[in-house]
Amino acid sequence: MSTVAVRPRVAMVGDGQLAQMTQQAAISLAVELRVLGEDPDAPAVRAGAEHVPGRCDDPAALRRVAEGCAVLSFDHEGATPELLATLEAEGVRLAPGARAKALAQDKVLARRELDALGLPVPPWALAHSTSQVSAFGLTHGWPLVAKLPRGGYDGRGVWELSDAAAAEALLDAHPGGLLLEPRLELVCEIAVLIARSATGELAGYPVVETVQRDGMCREMRVPAAVPSARADEAGALARELAERIGLVGLMAVELFLTQGGLLVNELALRPHNSGHWTIEGCETSQFEQHLRAVLGWPLGATGLCAPAVACANVVGPEDGSDPRDRLPAALAVPGAHVHLYGKAARPGRKLGHVTVCGEDPDLVRASALRAVALLHGEEA
Ligand SMILES: Nc1ncnc2c1ncn2[C@@H]1O[C@H](COP(=O)(O)OP(=O)(O)OP(=O)(O)O)[C@@H](O)[C@H]1O
Ligand SMILES: [Mg+2]
Repeated sequence: MSTVAVRPRVAMVGDGQLAQMTQQAAISLAVELRVLGEDPDAPAVRAGAEHVPGRCDDPAALRRVAEGCAVLSFDHEGATPELLATLEAEGVRLAPGARAKALAQDKVLARRELDALGLPVPPWALAHSTSQVSAFGLTHGWPLVAKLPRGGYDGRGVWELSDAAAAEALLDAHPGGLLLEPRLELVCEIAVLIARSATGELAGYPVVETVQRDGMCREMRVPAAVPSARADEAGALARELAERIGLVGLMAVELFLTQGGLLVNELALRPHNSGHWTIEGCETSQFEQHLRAVLGWPLGATGLCAPAVACANVVGPEDGSDPRDRLPAALAVPGAHVHLYGKAARPGRKLGHVTVCGEDPDLVRASALRAVALLHGEEA
C-alpha cells in the first residue's frame, strides 16, 4: 500500500500580495499555505492558498488558521503583540516569535529595544501632550516628524509637525501618544533583508536603496549607491539584530543614511516591499527564503542574478483607472517583469510592481520606470 507524503503546511496571518507571492513560492516547494483574511477574493486566495475566513484580531480565527500547521507566520502587522503572546503561551508556534514580532508592530517598543541593544536610532520621544511636543521641538528643532506607535503603513500614520499646535488634534485623536523624531536630512534610505532559519542559519541579501514618495516606497535599486563600507555596516547591523532578537523568518531593516551615519528607522518581520526585486534579481526570492526559514530548512543563496536590478511599484492612479487595462503596453518594455496583485484599483493603493535586471543601473531603472509609467497611463 502506498502512502501519501504529508505536505508541510504553513499558516499566514493576512491574505494580501505578500501572502500571494509567498503562495507562488510555496507551490514550487510543495508547501501548503493557509491564509487568514476576510476577503474570499484576496490576492493570496486567488493564487490558490487555502482560505480561512476571519479577522486578525479574533483569537478564535487565529487558532483556526494555526491548527494543524507547522508554524504561524505573517503578511502584515495586524494581530496585536498581546494577542500573539497569548497564542504563543497556548503552544502555537509563531515564526517569528511574539516578542520579536512586536518590534515590527510597535515603533516605540522598537526604539526602546534598539536603544537598549546599543543600535543607532534617530533621537525620539513618546509624547502625550503639546508641552512634551514643544520641549522636543525646542531641543531638536522644527519641523518634527510624529508617528503613530502602532498601525501605520505606507506613510499613513506619519505626519510632519511645524509647531506644537499642529500636534493638538493628533494627540486628541490618539490618546496612546505619538512617537516624535526630528525631521532628518537623509542622504538616502536603504534596506537590508535578512533571513534566519529556525536552525539559526543566517542569510543576508545585498543592500537595496529605496526611494519613497509621500511616505510610500516607490522604487528599489540594487546595488544601493552607498559606499561599500556603509553597505557592510548595514549588513552587520542586520545580522546582529537578527541574532539578538532570535529572528525566525525574513526581516527587512529599514535604515536612514544621514551625514552622521546609519540610523535604524523601522523593522518588518515578514517578507517586505523592499524585497520584491529578489524574485527575479536574486538566486532565492525573499518569499521562498521566508518559507525555508520558518520551516527550519536550509536557506538559499542570495547572490544577485545580474549586476543591476531596479524595481518600481505600481500605485493606483489619481483618476481611478486600472493599470491592468494597460498591461500589454508594459509587457512590450524589454526585460520588464510585471507583477500585478489583482487588487481593485484605488488612487494611492499599491497594485503591483515591475522588476528589470541587467548590466547598467541607469538603463534598468529607466526600463522599470517606463513600464510603470505605461501602467499608470502617464505615457502613451
Ligand atoms: N524622522 C524622519 N525624518 C525624515 N524622513 C522621515 C522620518 N521618518 C520617516 N520619514 C520618511 O517617511 C517614510 C515612512 O516612515 P516610516 O517607515 O516610519 O512609516 P510607515 O508608514 O510605517 O512605513 P512602512 O510603509 O515602511 O511601514 C520613511 O521611509 C521616510 O521616507
Ligand atoms: Mg517604513
